[in-house]
Amino acid sequence: MKVVVSVGGSVLAPDLDSDRVAAYADAIHSLDAQGHTLGTVVGGGPTARDYIESARELGANEIELDQLGIAVTRLNGRLLIAALDDRAAPTPAESYDEGREAIRRGDIPVLGGIVAAQTTDAVAAAFAEYVGADLLVYATSVPGVYDADPNDEEEATRFDELGASELVDVIADIEMDAGSSAPVDLLAAKIIQRSGIRTVVLDGTDPERVVRAVEDDDFDGTEILPEA
Ligand code: UTP
Repeated sequence: MKVVVSVGGSVLAPDLDSDRVAAYADAIHSLDAQGHTLGTVVGGGPTARDYIESARELGANEIELDQLGIAVTRLNGRLLIAALDDRAAPTPAESYDEGREAIRRGDIPVLGGIVAAQTTDAVAAAFAEYVGADLLVYATSVPGVYDADPNDEEEATRFDELGASELVDVIADIEMDAGSSAPVDLLAAKIIQRSGIRTVVLDGTDPERVVRAVEDDDFDGTEILPEA
C-alpha cells in the first residue's frame, strides 16, 4: 500500500528527545519492511511557534513568520532523516516533485512545509494526492476529529467516521470559533474531499498506533471516508 504519514511537530518533537524520534523511525522502518511505499510529512510543533512568536514581536510580517515556520519543519524533518538513516532521502524535500522523485527512486521522502500560508496538514493531503496514496494518516496530538476543540470544551465528542464533505463542514465550524484548533485544517480537508483519499486521524503519541492503523486497519481515531 502507498501511505503518506503526517506527523505533527507536537508529536514528533515537543522537545528534542531523541528516543521519541527514534521510535517514530522504527515505526516507519517496520512499515517499509512490510513492503509499503511511504512518504512522510513533519510539522513544526512548539519550536516553530516559539520562533514565530519571537519574530512577530520583532515586527516580522506573516509571510516572514511562515518562512520561519517552514524552516523549523525542515529542521524537524532532518531529525527524522537522521533516525531513518539510509532509507530516507538525504534532505527534506522542498517541493512535491522532489518528494515524488524520492519515492520513485525507492527512498522515503521527508517533507516539511512547502509554501507560505499553509500548514503541513495541507502539505500532507496535497502530497498524498500527488503520489496517488491509498491511505493518509495524520498522527496528531488528539485522538481524532471532534465536533469542537476537545482542549477547550469538555463536552466535545469524537467522530468515529466522517464523509469527506462532513469533514469540511466540521472543520469550517471549528475554525470559525476564534482560538479553537482542529487536528486537520480546512485546506487539508478540502484536498481530502476532492482527492477521495481514505484518511485516518489518530493520536500519534505512540508511533505503534500508526503501524497498527496501516498494517491491521486497527485504530482508535476518526476515519474519513471518500465520497463517490
Ligand atoms: P505546522 O503545519 O507544523 O503547524 O507548520 P502546526 O499545525 O501549528 O503544528 P504541529 O501540528 O504542532 O506541527 C508550522 C508553521 O510553518 C508555516 C506556518 O507558519 C505554520 O504555522 N508553514 C508550514 C507554512 O507556511 N507552509 C507550510 O507548507 C507549512
